[in-house]
Amino acid sequence: MMPTLPGPADFDRIASLCERRWDYHYTRSKLRTDPVYAAVAAELAGSDLPVLDIGCGLGLLGHYLQACGMTPPLTGFDYDARKIRVAAGMADRADLENLDFRSGDARTGLPEFAGHVVILDILQFFHRNEQEALLAAAAARVVPGGRMIIRSGLRAPGWRHRVTVLADYLARLTLWMKAAPVCYPDAELFRTTLGAAGLRVDIRPLWGRTPFHNHLIVGRRP
Ligand SMILES: C[S@@+](CC[C@H](N)C(=O)[O-])C[C@H]1O[C@@H](n2cnc3c(N)ncnc32)[C@H](O)[C@@H]1O
Repeated sequence: MMPTLPGPADFDRIASLCERRWDYHYTRSKLRTDPVYAAVAAELAGSDLPVLDIGCGLGLLGHYLQACGMTPPLTGFDYDARKIRVAAGMADRADLENLDFRSGDARTGLPEFAGHVVILDILQFFHRNEQEALLAAAAARVVPGGRMIIRSGLRAPGWRHRVTVLADYLARLTLWMKAAPVCYPDAELFRTTLGAAGLRVDIRPLWGRTPFHNHLIVGRRP
């Protein structure tokens, strides 16, 4: 079942929850241009299971799901304490009690959790062994009938990958990100790690109108 997708007026309303001008413009343009939130909503539609959003940033996924009429309990987890403060403030101002945000480093542990797990655009900041450890720990939190939904740029020859790397370095240069990218995963990482954890893996391109080499990786636990 496809959710009813939100539109520009919803995105403006969500952006207006931000206190800082930079966060407002980032939120507005990200929600308007990035196809990932609609893709995740489609994967989660019809399920009330809780969601763990690892590397949640400002918590935009929670607001997007809410604007779709989807209200699962969502825990956002990120090691950038400023973003977690902004995310919590936005959820408070919107009076969304089902959104909870916690600060922590996913390289050293994840919250206790059982449900769906979402990981959007953070794996490039992890070394290969850290990526394997994170995926295994995240997969252990996916319950039967649950999904692990990942968006990541995949390492590959071609201009899309080069633009993806450039954008990640720009995000670091502007201090939006606390770290520069260290390792882009390949499709084999997901097939091997998630397959070993008992998930059925599907990988498809997800770049929409963006120039990035982004893919959606979905692991389903039967
Ligand atoms: C490109 S942003 C994506 C934000 C969010 N997932 C979204 O799509 O709207 C990547 C996020 O991952 C977070 N991150 C990077 N490394 C992390 C780590 N080791 N532990 C927790 N969060 C991390 C960053 O702070 C940042 O908020």
